[in-house]
This record gives sequence, C-alpha cells and structure tokens, in this order.
Amino acid sequence: MSKNKLLVVSLLVAVTMVVSATVSMAAPITIKFSHVVAENTPKGQMANKFKDLVAERLGGKVVVEVFPNSQLFGDNKVLEAMLLGDVHLAAPSLSQFNKYTKSLQIFDLPFLFEDMVAVEKFQQGPIGQKLLMSMKSKGLVGLGYLHNGMKQLSASDQLRVPEDASGKKFRIMSSDVLAAQFEAVDALPLKKPFSEVFTLLQTKAIDGQENTWSNIFSKKFYEVQPYITESNHGVLDYLVITSAEFWMDLPDDIRPVVKKALDEAIVFGNEVSEKKAIADRQKIIDSGRSKVITLSKDERKQWVEAMKPVWKKFEDEIGKEYIEAAVQSNM
Ligand code: SIN
Repeated sequence: MSKNKLLVVSLLVAVTMVVSATVSMAAPITIKFSHVVAENTPKGQMANKFKDLVAERLGGKVVVEVFPNSQLFGDNKVLEAMLLGDVHLAAPSLSQFNKYTKSLQIFDLPFLFEDMVAVEKFQQGPIGQKLLMSMKSKGLVGLGYLHNGMKQLSASDQLRVPEDASGKKFRIMSSDVLAAQFEAVDALPLKKPFSEVFTLLQTKAIDGQENTWSNIFSKKFYEVQPYITESNHGVLDYLVITSAEFWMDLPDDIRPVVKKALDEAIVFGNEVSEKKAIADRQKIIDSGRSKVITLSKDERKQWVEAMKPVWKKFEDEIGKEYIEAAVQSNM
C-alpha cells in the first residue's frame, strides 16, 4: 500500500472511531410528560408505567420524565408549551381542546354515553380513531385515549333535582359544552384550572364541581363537599397527545418502541381506572365526610331532560353523524 493510501485508510479509521464514540455517548432523548393529577390516579399510574417500560426497553437511549400535580404546566398552558417544544407528552382531559378542535366537544355532551363500555366502543371505532387526528393541522397528534371514568356532581347542598343546582356556582373545565350543561339547569359555570378547585371549594368561592370518583378522592374534594350526587352524567377521559414535530423527529427505530410502551401503559391505566372508580367511591363513603346521593329513576330523568337540549346547541360544531354514532355505541 502506498504511503498516501495508508494515510487515507488511517484517517478513515480514526473518523469512524470518533463518530461511533460520539454516537454511543450521545445524550439520551428526553420525553417530558406533564399532567395535573396525583400519582395515585389512573393517569398518574399510566404515566409512571410508561416511564418504567421505556426505561426497560430503551434504557440509555430515551428517558421519560414525569411531572404530576401541575408541577410543570396546568391544562390551560400545556398545549401551547407542547407546540413550543417545552413538553413532549401530556394527557389533558378531552374537555381541554376547544381552542384546537370543536369535534372533541362530543365527549362533553351530557348523558350521551351510558357507561364506560360505550365510551370505549366509540373511541376504538372509526370516528373515535379519526378524532385522534383532528388537530393534526394545528401540529398536535393524539396517540390514544385513556379512561378516567364517569363524572359525579359534588356540592355544598344536596342535588336531587335540576332545580337544586339553580343559582349555584360550579367549577368546570375549559369547555363551552360544560358551560352550557350547567346553564341548562340555571347554574353558574366557572372555568378554572384543576389545581385551584380544592381551594375554591374550601373557601366556598364556589358551591360545587363535577368530577370522577378518583379525582374527588385523590384531590380530597370529598372533605370539603358534604354531598356527592351519583349522576354519571358525563365522561372524563383523556387524550394522550404529542406535537407532530416532536413525534416525527423521533428516530424511526425508536418511535414504534415508544408507541408500544405507551399503548401498554394505556391498557394498564384503563385497568386502574376501572378499579379506582369502585374503590375510591367506597373510600369516600367509608370516610363519612360526604354523603353519596343515589338518584331515583324519576329524579335522573329530570336531569336528562334538562341537560339533553345541549346536544342540539352543539350539533353543527360537532357533527350530527358523530353524535348519532356515539348514541349507537350504547347499543
Ligand atoms: C384531570 O383529570 O386531568 C383534570 C380534571 C379536571 O380538570 O377536573
């Protein structure tokens, strides 16, 4: 080999060694996952499971950092932060996407889904799957749905019939459908972040709120709300969301592994949600701090009749055929 050839080969070997050393030393990809609930909730447990699965399968290459309890962002800021690249995964409630799409408002319609079986059927069906992509043009991609459960009404007074809610202030998530739902019973809805709800209830700045058993339990709302009406009037589920830019920038050999870990974490989170809806309800009853009110058939019918006209109000924004498909999922 000539002197020059030898020099070129040595140089190539040196460059290759430097490149592979740099690659093996490359900083891992960090996925920041922000959420607003406690760690012992379905979402909190799903996020931690996802972190563990990624560590197990992609250790050294990808690190998931989970920020619970609105530590990083509240639901009112997280999507903007995501589009700026300051956070990569979140699972806001389906009520929080108004600014980006009107279609997801379907999940807030009162008394649309009879139970979580119907919700699951709709989400996994063609329309549910299409809705995952409803914000793609805005740079956001839905990766899957996560359950929390059916919502109940908590209040400082007994709520048995719609008139009992009249004139009372209820905290709601940032959703026009939820506002219309409370206005339909002459109540006053107030859009406030989740992190403020306990204090608003404790200081009696508001009279009530709507939430799932696990949120009422984990955030101790039952300690400052003497009555909970078991209304099951709506669903509180989540959309696990990321920015299209971040998602597509993940290396091709990493993205499917992350997605699979997420899918498995969601299945786990859904199992937790089912168990918690039962267990946390019982813990609240056992605490004796809050009386759980069971509605008679006639009382429930009155709530349905008062709130159901909200569907018509949002039919054009959501799409009549979507609402019809959701009704079908109850069959
Ligand atoms: C959540 O479960 O993520 C928050 C629900 C709420 O804001 O009431």
